[in-house]
Amino acid sequence: MGEVDPAFIQALEHRPKPGQTIEAKGIPLIDLSPLESNSRTALEILATEIGDACENWGFFQVINHGVPLEARQKIDLVSREFFALPKEEKRKVSRDEVNPTGYYDTEHTKNVRDWKEVFDVTVQVPTVIHDPDDKEMKEMINQWPGNPPEMRSACEEYAAEMQKLAFNLLELIALSLGLKKDRLNGFFKDQTTFIRLNYYPPCPIPDLALGVGRHKDAGALTILAQDEVGGLQVKRKTDGEWILVKPTPDAYIINVGDIIQVWSNEKYQSVEHRVKVNSEKERFSIPFFFNPAFYTMVEPLEELVNEQNPSKYKPYSWGKFLSTRKLSNYKKLDVENIQI
Ligand code: SIN
Ligand code: FE2
Repeated sequence: MGEVDPAFIQALEHRPKPGQTIEAKGIPLIDLSPLESNSRTALEILATEIGDACENWGFFQVINHGVPLEARQKIDLVSREFFALPKEEKRKVSRDEVNPTGYYDTEHTKNVRDWKEVFDVTVQVPTVIHDPDDKEMKEMINQWPGNPPEMRSACEEYAAEMQKLAFNLLELIALSLGLKKDRLNGFFKDQTTFIRLNYYPPCPIPDLALGVGRHKDAGALTILAQDEVGGLQVKRKTDGEWILVKPTPDAYIINVGDIIQVWSNEKYQSVEHRVKVNSEKERFSIPFFFNPAFYTMVEPLEELVNEQNPSKYKPYSWGKFLSTRKLSNYKKLDVENIQI
């Protein structure tokens, strides 16, 4: 194993199968151009398509999404420039107890170290985080590296574009659940959304380690830009097989997180995924984690609960979840823990 830290080694049952290349023919590719039309029928058909994808896969890709390619190219470039800097430079903007956003290279998922480096940026500044049991409020303000100088403008422009797409998707998801289009929008007034720049360096032990270990996203909705290298694998609901999401130029990968699972009372489920690493190529990805206000109490929506379909979850505080997880060593409250 040479120099590799054993902290990166996955247990046998979680290692990617060597050479596994099952590609996601089944993961729906959805054309969002009906958003531009004024046709109600076209929107309803689109909402049904999205609802089916959420129910059957928890994941889908979108094209004709309205996000200008330049915004994506700009953030991709600054990300590549930033991660190419020496570690001492990157560590000048390290995430720590005082700064919950910034750079780090020691993320662990399920107690195994991920083969990656990260730079986190909060989207609504300041983002207020507080634990309702704790009087102390914490604010997240971004740290910006001196280099590349365009890092801040690229992230802010990209965030503004992602917001539009996120609200469009949120409205389509609300429609697909038989709710009013704007039913979920209010939760995102004071959002705790953030952008993550991910860098996966080439890995000498690609069959033993993972870029990100298996996990589900805790927030509401994730919009992911992955580059042409690929590596994201999604656990297929029907048989538990790990399916590679084929990189599609200028598409975004969307997945529902635990919050939508709870709001929908499990009609839509947050699905496990992980990232394979590559021995030759470096890989970059940029997830946008669309998350509600810190003061949100997350529980099944009353319209979706009835005698035949009683609530499957106790209410939980998103702020408490966030502060526990982010500010004290990745202690994760699993959504399973609040299942009734
Ligand atoms: C993640 O799920 O956290 C990262 C996804 C990716 O890099 O493709
Ligand atoms: Fe994820």
